[in-house]
Amino acid sequence: MLSLLLSAMLAVHTMAVMEVHVPEQPVVALYGSDALLNCSVSLLGPFNLTDLSVFWQLTDTKRSVHSYSDGTDQLTEQAQRFANRTSLFPSALPLGNMSLLLRRVVVADEGSYTCFVRVRDYGSASLWLQVAAPYSKPVVTLEPESNLRPGDEVSLTCEAYGGYPQAEVVWQDGGGRNLTENITTSAVATEEGLFTMTSVLKVLLEPNSTYSCQLVNPLLGEEGNAFVTITGQNMAFPPVALWVTVGLSVCLLVLLIALAAVCRRKIKESCEEARREAEEARELEEEESKTAMQLLKS
Ligand SMILES: *[C@@H]1O[C@H](CO)[C@@H](O)[C@H](O)[C@H]1NC(C)=O
Ligand SMILES: *[C@@H]1O[C@H](CO)[C@@H](O)[C@H](O)[C@H]1NC(C)=O
Ligand SMILES: *[C@@H]1O[C@H](CO)[C@@H](O)[C@H](O)[C@H]1NC(C)=O
Ligand SMILES: *[C@@H]1O[C@H](CO)[C@@H](O)[C@H](O)[C@H]1NC(C)=O
Repeated sequence: MLSLLLSAMLAVHTMAVMEVHVPEQPVVALYGSDALLNCSVSLLGPFNLTDLSVFWQLTDTKRSVHSYSDGTDQLTEQAQRFANRTSLFPSALPLGNMSLLLRRVVVADEGSYTCFVRVRDYGSASLWLQVAAPYSKPVVTLEPESNLRPGDEVSLTCEAYGGYPQAEVVWQDGGGRNLTENITTSAVATEEGLFTMTSVLKVLLEPNSTYSCQLVNPLLGEEGNAFVTITGQNMAFPPVALWVTVGLSVCLLVLLIALAAVCRRKIKESCEEARREAEEARELEEEESKTAMQLLKS
């Protein structure tokens, strides 16, 4: 009880004596890049560097991220995963700047860091480091891919990988309306902690419909976008082919009718010719018989 009271008094005391400044907003660092964890104190006057101690710790576990005392880095206690990745700015220390450079940030670095400074008095403050990684461009696939009929249920799968933190997946139709029904979104983390986002949209198939999938990273904002347009090509009896078939049939029909007309005329012509020939033959016969009769008379 007494120690609790003492430490509470100590905390009030240190806050009053030496103010340590860190960013209030989380520090966002891109995966694989370097992060600057800013920490500074308002000094009361010049001091000797050998009187300065700086301890950067993980707030939760109190594990050492980087230490400095007696005028030099003290890294024997440093947590293994920070080895060779941290440094202070020696020339900035006399100015009260205890910022830490953390190189090649990984997802596991995300969390709270405490900057603890002692010169004559001491103070500390904590900041939050957030890691962000952009997703790959999403890819949309259609399942099943072919032999589709209007009204069939199809699954559109949108996938993007290598991002952090988990993204929101937004599906829209061709008119830009947000689709919210029949969507299943899941996230799977790799060993490095980066996510693969998979979102499945189930729709009833309509020809010439467009769907788009977009990832929204809570730290990086809108990311890649992918479209899929379901055209006649995916359909078993596509409307385009239907019209081509109908068109061809009509052409064929017209052709047949024309052919029939031509044939009929030809047939009629040849019939008439035959009749004319027959008539001529009969006339000839009549004349011949007349001649014969005349011959008989004479
Ligand atoms: C850190 O660097 C030193 C010297 O360059 C090297 O011997 C050591 O293996 C490195 N440690 C890690 C964890 O990379
Ligand atoms: C501390 O020093 C670093 C490196 O020179 C610089 O980038 C940073 O802005 C400084 N921070 C403050 C609070 O002056
Ligand atoms: C669709 O949803 C996203 C994310 O929730 C939102 O930012 C956007 O304004 C919405 N758009 C429409 C047209 O509702
Ligand atoms: C969701 O799926 C059901 C069943 O497949 C369907 O009846 C409904 O129309 C779908 N909703 C939307 C918005 O597509």
